[in-house]
Amino acid sequence: MSAIPAHVGIIMDGNGRWARQRGQIRTQGHLEGLKTAKRVVKAASEAGLSYLTLYVFSTENWKRAADEVAFIMALVRQYLRGELDFYRENRIRIRHAGDAGGLPVDIAKELREACEDTRDFTGMQVILALNYGGRDEIIRGIRKLLAERGGPDSPGEIREADFRRYLDNPDLPDPDLIIRTAGEMRTSNFLLWEGAYAEYWVSEKFWPDFTEDDFKAAIAQFGQRERRYGGANS
Ligand code: FPP
Repeated sequence: MSAIPAHVGIIMDGNGRWARQRGQIRTQGHLEGLKTAKRVVKAASEAGLSYLTLYVFSTENWKRAADEVAFIMALVRQYLRGELDFYRENRIRIRHAGDAGGLPVDIAKELREACEDTRDFTGMQVILALNYGGRDEIIRGIRKLLAERGGPDSPGEIREADFRRYLDNPDLPDPDLIIRTAGEMRTSNFLLWEGAYAEYWVSEKFWPDFTEDDFKAAIAQFGQRERRYGGANS
């Protein structure tokens, strides 16, 4: 019997290369990437996943050209507005991981509203990692912990389980599987704490070319993996 992962994270990479390969501008790749994201969210919901985290925009992505950043933010807005009926029909809850304070005010508002509108839905949860960096999440977590524990001089004992409470979404289970497209073998600052024992599955395809069948293949392959969490074979 093969196990279905409860939580899958996806590093949606290769939009720019996809576009360049076709002689198109990078933003065309993001536009196609958005279509893939919609298809994969649907496939994940149908497959019975509980949580899907999509790496949409990292804390490092601000280094890109201003027009590319603006284009991606506009796509996020379009996605949040355009998919609301789909979330309602499928009882999908939208959540955010990342630093909302560093987002353009209008995008932060759209995101907050989408999270609010869907907060009681009990189907799959889609976590949009937006202005997200694993290191940034850990640093923000340390700051929250220190603020709660009365300043830097008296934090007291800090165990792993204590620190977890200060992550962006403390109630989420760790990702079981992280999928990355475009063939790169890096974590790129994605879910550093949460992904400690995630299984990785890398596709050579650029994100716009990634299909529902590729997603299903990753899920099926995950079912064959033996997870030991640092333990030994029995
Ligand atoms: C990585 O490709 C992709 C991004 C940084 C943007 C991801 C955004 C989307 C797929 C659209 C928005 C999606 C949602 C769900 C709102 P890259 O540009 O780094 O590609 P490259 O490595 O080939 O240059």
